[in-house]
Amino acid sequence: MSKMLRVKHLLGIKDLHREDIDLILQTADTFLDVINRPIKKVPSLRDTTIVNLFFENSTRTRLSFELAEKRLSADVLNFTASSSSVSKGETLVDTVNNILAMKVDMVVMRHPQAGAAKFLSERVDSVIINAGDGAHEHPTQALLDAFSIKRKLGTIEGKRVMIVGDILHSRVALSNIFCLQKLGAEVGVCGPPTLIPRYLNELGVYVETNLQKALQWCDVVNMLRIQLERQDIQYFPSNREYTKHYQLNDNRLNALDKKIVVMHPGPINRGIEITSDVADGPHSVILDQVESGVAVRMAVLYLLAGRSAD
Ligand code: CP
Repeated sequence: MSKMLRVKHLLGIKDLHREDIDLILQTADTFLDVINRPIKKVPSLRDTTIVNLFFENSTRTRLSFELAEKRLSADVLNFTASSSSVSKGETLVDTVNNILAMKVDMVVMRHPQAGAAKFLSERVDSVIINAGDGAHEHPTQALLDAFSIKRKLGTIEGKRVMIVGDILHSRVALSNIFCLQKLGAEVGVCGPPTLIPRYLNELGVYVETNLQKALQWCDVVNMLRIQLERQDIQYFPSNREYTKHYQLNDNRLNALDKKIVVMHPGPINRGIEITSDVADGPHSVILDQVESGVAVRMAVLYLLAGRSAD
């Protein structure tokens, strides 16, 4: 296996070869050991400066990238759009070029516009890592989800993963579909028909609108929240109606003739798409996903830093 990624930037899972994903997950295994040692730090990126540019709110991704950078001994700058000169009308490219002029080597960016990371990668001279662009892709979330499934089940090949909820507005769903299919899993989606885009049939995804049937089909269920902030119209009658048909709760899990792994990328809306009993229950790996996120992001940063001089 090549020890270098074939891509200079991480813009989306769609651009990655299976070998790239395998290399990231293999490297993340090493970093998972590192972050569980008494001394959780390695000097790998001590000559590298990284900026985290967040134009949209985040808890997990932002802190996880920052921690991953610090665990690798990089110098870290954090940028929040609301307190910057973006509010005075500065463009994205001008903002980033000014930051790069301060001798910054890599850019991690979350942005509300789909395609923002690719746009930037074509206009500035730096490594760009997409930390979520609109409803398009969230590549490190998909990589950490795959890593978490591998940790729990030993393999991804041949497993059936069902993604439930607001598929239409979800960058997590799209990146997970690309990632899991490349790794040999079968992927299904479940939700109200209004929240399932038609193009999914062309991606070879199993589409199911009945949650109980969807749960019986899968080995792993990944629950998504309803992204009200991205919805311009009402896609279902009410939260109560949604909960009745699409909430993961103990009754639904107990009615299965098998145990399934429960995942959620966060943030959770407790009592809407998932009950607390299930989110905090024995089959949930939700906090393991968060731990995996640091190791996977360390792997991505480490591997792409090796390409930063290209
Ligand atoms: N999963 C995820 O992207 O969470 P944040 O929005 O908190 O980063």
